Parts: sequence; C-alpha cells; structure tokens
Amino acid sequence: MHDLLFQPLEIGAMTLPNRVVMPALTRLRAVPEGIPQPIAADYYAQRASAGLIVTEATAITADGHGYPQMPGIHTRAQVAGWRRVTDAVHAAGGRIALQIVHHGRWSHSSYNADGRLPIAPSAVAPPGEIYSPTFTKLPYETPRALKSWEIPLIVTDFADAALRAVDAGFDAVEIHGANGFLLDQFLQDGSNHRVDEYGGPIENRARFLLNVVEQVGDDIGPERVGVRLSPHGNLGGLTDSDPVALFSYVITRLSALRIAYLHLIEPRASSAGIADDASVDSADNAALFRRLFEGPMITAGGYSAETGVQVIERERADAVAFGRAFIANPDLPDRLRRNLPLNVFDRTTAYGGGAHGYTDYPALDAMEI
Ligand SMILES: Cc1cc2nc3c(=O)[nH]c(=O)nc-3n(C[C@H](O)[C@H](O)[C@H](O)COP(=O)(O)O)c2cc1C
Repeated sequence: MHDLLFQPLEIGAMTLPNRVVMPALTRLRAVPEGIPQPIAADYYAQRASAGLIVTEATAITADGHGYPQMPGIHTRAQVAGWRRVTDAVHAAGGRIALQIVHHGRWSHSSYNADGRLPIAPSAVAPPGEIYSPTFTKLPYETPRALKSWEIPLIVTDFADAALRAVDAGFDAVEIHGANGFLLDQFLQDGSNHRVDEYGGPIENRARFLLNVVEQVGDDIGPERVGVRLSPHGNLGGLTDSDPVALFSYVITRLSALRIAYLHLIEPRASSAGIADDASVDSADNAALFRRLFEGPMITAGGYSAETGVQVIERERADAVAFGRAFIANPDLPDRLRRNLPLNVFDRTTAYGGGAHGYTDYPALDAMEI
C-alpha cells in the first residue's frame, strides 16, 4: 500500500533498501564524558531496518557541546563508543551516518572546563534559557564573536570530526546546518551581524557552511557527506530577513558540490524537539527548494505514511524521515509497510535517563497482535 516508501534508493556511496529514514534525535544519555554507552548500540541496532539511520547531534570539539550528556566525536574513548554502535547497526543489516555539530551560542560557559564563553558569529545572546551540564536552567550568556582567523580552524575541526567518524565505522556524516546551531547562526542575519567575509551579503554568510562541506568532502569524499538545513525554522531564536533568497543560494551551491544528500526540515515541525504542536500555514520547504538540488533529498517534519508517500509521488523528496515515530517504534518501516498501529511517543523520556523510553519501546514481534 505504501510501495513508494519501500523502493531502494542510491544515496552517495550507499544503497538504501527503503526510503524510511531515522533522522537525528538527541537523547542525552552519553555519560560519562560524551561517550556513547553500550545501550546506545542496542537502541540504534533495534532501528537498523531504517533505510538510513542518522545519529543524534554529536559535538565536533569539547567547546562544541551545549546539552547535558550529549555525545562527542573528539576523543578516542568517544570514537570507541561509536564503534560499538556502528558495529551493532551493521551486524543488524543497517546503514548509519553521524550528525556532526558545533552548538555555537546555544551553549554556556559551564560546558567549558576553563569557563570560556560560548562562541558565535556575533555577540548576540539567544532569547530564553539553556540547560546546564547538570540539567538546571540558566539564562543564556552573550557569546564571544569569533575572529575571522578562527573560522578556518573550526572548518578543520569539522573535517577532523568527519575523519574520526569514518574511523568509528560510519557510512557517512551529516553536517548539522539546521536548528539554530553554529553553522545556522552564521547563515541567518538575525544572529550574524559580521562585517568581514563571513557576514553581510548571503554569499558571505554562507561561506562558513560551504567551506565546511567542501573540506569534509575533500577529506572523506562528497559521496559520504549529507547536509541538514531548516529554512524558515526559528529554533534557538534565529531569524532571517529573506530566508527564500538565503536558502536558494545555499542549496544551489550545495547541489554543485555533489554531496550524497540534502536533508530539509519542514518548519511546521521545527520545534519537534521541545513540543508536539505543529505550526499551521508555514512555508513548504520541499516545494520551494526541491528543484534547486539535483541529488537525493530527504524531507522531515510531521509526516505520516500517507503524506510521506505523497511527497515522494510529487517528486518533492526521495526519502522521508520520521523522528518521534522512530523513537517510539523500533520496527517503524515494517509497521508502515503493513499499515499496523504505532506506539505513541512519550516526551517525558525523550531526554536523559536510561533504558526506559529508549530501548524498551516494543517491536510488534514482541507483542501480541
Ligand atoms: C527528542 C528529539 C530530539 C531531536 N534531536 C535532533 C538532533 O539532534 N538533530 C536534528 O537535526 N534534529 C533533531 N530533532 C528533530 C528531528 O530530527 C525531526 O526533524 C523532527 O522531530 C520532525 O520530525 P517528526 O515530526 O517526524 O518528529 C529532534 C527531535 C526530537 C523529537
């Protein structure tokens, strides 16, 4: 019935057996020291029937963290922890990409051992509060604006993280340019007030992201690189004066770099990590931007099996990511294919904690049906 979701798809160096993607989902259970634990290997292996798994956002450097208990890919112990995960997913027949991120201003000095302020394009604090490393809430600080000469160093940090991801056994990396983190902070002019070659006109604001994508592509091969963007998203207090012009430019340039895939989040579900309400009357990114990108495109944000089939049918995406549904249903592809009922996502166990709400959502073969 949902045949279109179950056709194979070539994405860069991978062949996905289906088009049901597990997108990045932060779960905040990597303790101590940002190391994925053996239970993370169980969690991801349970979901290996996804066409592609993208991991939770993972920090490229020690100062790139901004959530308590989020994983990193900057120490040997973290690489070894991720190796357990990739081995388990591959043994279960799956494919897995590592989502790499720098949190930028979406962080706090308490995440830095020496108490340094978080970094950002400009000294503009996000609105609201942030979780400290011990899950208490703190007001955001005004970040430190990066000097021009520091930016190429962070490009190299992304490339080094990608090389470590390959060492850890990942099939690909997904560069996190979405949801209000450092690369998105540079793209959007509400947070980027720079006057150097990384600020001002769109071409300048896009420079950092495009340099990262190029450098990572040079180091691990563009066919192993995906990019995630969230046009019209406002997470982390981001705003832009002309998102259609900005993201049209970025996506056109990404298309020319021949990366493995582009992954766009629909703004109706841009706050899915913190709330379950869907915005109404929001822009349709798949419709707006599909034609600008020649390679495979993944779309995410509030999809059901029916709307997922429709978006592929209309050729506005090649694969569909299901976030909250994949947390709650380890065997989601099978349930969608057979049109069977879904377990309901429990938001209270999304972040932090242990096995409950992580590895104990039942698959159907473990239930009476
Ligand atoms: C608990 C939770 C954690 C998330 N963590 C991330 C993340 O680490 N990186 C990311 O790009 N998106 C993250 N997202 C967004 C999802 O990848 C997805 O885009 C969003 O949930 C919309 O899809 P859905 O409506 O199918 O849930 C998160 C969403 C949820 C619910």
